[in-house]
Amino acid sequence: MSPRNPPFQTEIRPYGKAAIAEAARLIGAGLPVAVPTETVYGLAADATSGEAVARIYAAKGRPSFNPLIVHVRSLAEAERIAEFDDRARDLAAHFWPGPLTLVLPMKAGARIAALVTAGLSTIALRVPAHPAMQALLEAAARPLAAPSANASGRISPTRAEHVAASLDGRIPLIVDGGPTAHGLESTIVAVGDGKVRLLRPGPIASAALGAVAGDATGTIEAPGQMASHYAPTKTLRLGATEAREDEWLIGFGDVPGDSSLSARGDLIEAAASLFQRLHEAEATDSAAIAVAPVPEQGLGTAINDRLRRAAAPR
Ligand code: TXA
Ligand code: MG
Repeated sequence: MSPRNPPFQTEIRPYGKAAIAEAARLIGAGLPVAVPTETVYGLAADATSGEAVARIYAAKGRPSFNPLIVHVRSLAEAERIAEFDDRARDLAAHFWPGPLTLVLPMKAGARIAALVTAGLSTIALRVPAHPAMQALLEAAARPLAAPSANASGRISPTRAEHVAASLDGRIPLIVDGGPTAHGLESTIVAVGDGKVRLLRPGPIASAALGAVAGDATGTIEAPGQMASHYAPTKTLRLGATEAREDEWLIGFGDVPGDSSLSARGDLIEAAASLFQRLHEAEATDSAAIAVAPVPEQGLGTAINDRLRRAAAPR
């Protein structure tokens, strides 16, 4: 059994049956592995496990939690996770498998870890075309969350060596499928309210999207890469060591609270449970939410970044 925590002896294995079997085993053990897609190399982990997804962020050293793209085998599997209207179905039928990501309302019963969507009610889905990612989805038999396989702030990797240069020692395995075909992250569009909004330009041109989405002239808006953020409806107080009257306190470590991000003060567990604890707190009768201090180190930086955004006045 390989170790569960870094530093790892990062293995680079050529894409093939053995590499995919090992990658699927590691995914089953809750660890992230790098795998090629037709756009860029992704750092894939079990999308149904908050802790597995937290390990993606830990490996990337990401200072904040952005929502991640979930990769699935087919449109049928995607439809079990998100609500597709006719336009979304047309886009999926035309461009999947391929470099198109659809942002759609998530279905209530979808078994996706809250950390994947960073607490949003929408989810980004993609059916990749690369045989290595397809084989891994098949072998792992679960949806895989995968951001680009680079350390935070570095450019997206289009070769196994790029992944190794930024993540060596931080992940157990890189599946080497050679250089990627597109070398550019997927086109992202949000579909809803009868509109198709281009969130990130990519390999699929907006004209091609427009031709399929029905109305090439007016439907596609490009608001740019505006980051959507989870925002609670209640006020949120940070650095709290005790609950004030009518506050629901989310604890951490020594601060017990009404619930806890991690009673043992574990940052991976805290990251994995963060959005779940916030949603629970919103659903209580308490008028406000307070959160215990989280140390500003490792994943704590990303946790605090999200908490500060959630606490920011609107
Ligand atoms: O080609 C790609 O898309 C690669 C491969 C590995 O699939 N993945 C990738 O993931 O580029 P990442 O995490 O680097 O970028 C994901 C983007 C982010 O800009 C994020 O804000 C956006 O997708 N995103 C994810 N979920 C979203 C949501 N619910 N609403 C709006 N944007 C979302
Ligand atoms: Mg990226």
